[in-house]
Amino acid sequence: MARLQDKVAIVTGAARGQGAAEATLFAEEGAAVVLTDVLSAEGEETAKACGGTFLHHDVSSEEAWERVVADTLAAHGRIDVLVNNAGIYHRAKLIDHTLDDFRRLLDINTIGVFLGMRAVAPSMMEREAGSIVNISSVAGLVGAPGSIGYGASKFAVTGMTKTAAFELARYGIRVNSIHPGIIDTDMIQQVASGDESRLERMTAATPFGRSADPIEIARLALYLASDESSFSSGSEFVADGGLTAI
Ligand SMILES: NC(=O)c1ccc[n+]([C@@H]2O[C@H](COP(=O)([O-])OP(=O)(O)OC[C@H]3O[C@@H](n4cnc5c(N)ncnc54)[C@H](O)[C@@H]3O)[C@@H](O)[C@H]2O)c1
Repeated sequence: MARLQDKVAIVTGAARGQGAAEATLFAEEGAAVVLTDVLSAEGEETAKACGGTFLHHDVSSEEAWERVVADTLAAHGRIDVLVNNAGIYHRAKLIDHTLDDFRRLLDINTIGVFLGMRAVAPSMMEREAGSIVNISSVAGLVGAPGSIGYGASKFAVTGMTKTAAFELARYGIRVNSIHPGIIDTDMIQQVASGDESRLERMTAATPFGRSADPIEIARLALYLASDESSFSSGSEFVADGGLTAI
């Protein structure tokens, strides 16, 4: 049997990158997948390719979350899985970081995850089942130079995951975080400021000496979304090629 047979999953930020890999793998494993993103054209294309449904969605908007949950419930009657994957990066050191950029990181990376968990929880509580997977980062576990705002936004995701896991455990809902290292997506180009030699130096400094393909994170998300991870909640799942082992 497919690993997500008959399950309904929402994946945010699924137009490209890791979200697209997760949505595609989930669909291959039998899930009905709702892909959301602010990038409509790319999102429609990815959804069409994997047989899912695309909804335009800004994760920092409370109203948009209400609509995504209502539309998903109207179409599928249930929500089994939420992957809070949408996120942005901004490179700036402490002394250079503007307040506006810091707030934008929190709005999308942190408040987006809070709103998402809060929006899906009631229907999961009613059915006493569900899995929420929050995409944090290694920058949500350790210091990352040049990423003060991003790190703040991702440490918050790590913390919220644990609190939500505690509160929702009695309703049969599991909440875990994934902490990717250097993943080969558009975002990593921003982390390296589009500088290939900087990216090479970053990856060379990790034990594996390479970046990861998005599918390597999608497989971990699949495990957490599925019933195979039935005894895991409030936990940090790291996939970083050994980066934080140093
Ligand atoms: N690439 C990496 O090395 C890396 C490492 C650690 C963590 N992450 C995290 O992984 C997640 C996925 O990132 P990625 O690497 O696939 O990068 P990406 O930039 O390719 O994908 C991010 C997606 O989120 C969407 N998005 C941005 N703002 C949004 C909003 N307000 N509402 C809805 N969607 C929005 C983007 O349009 C994009 O499709 C992010 O949360 C990111 O912080 C990435």
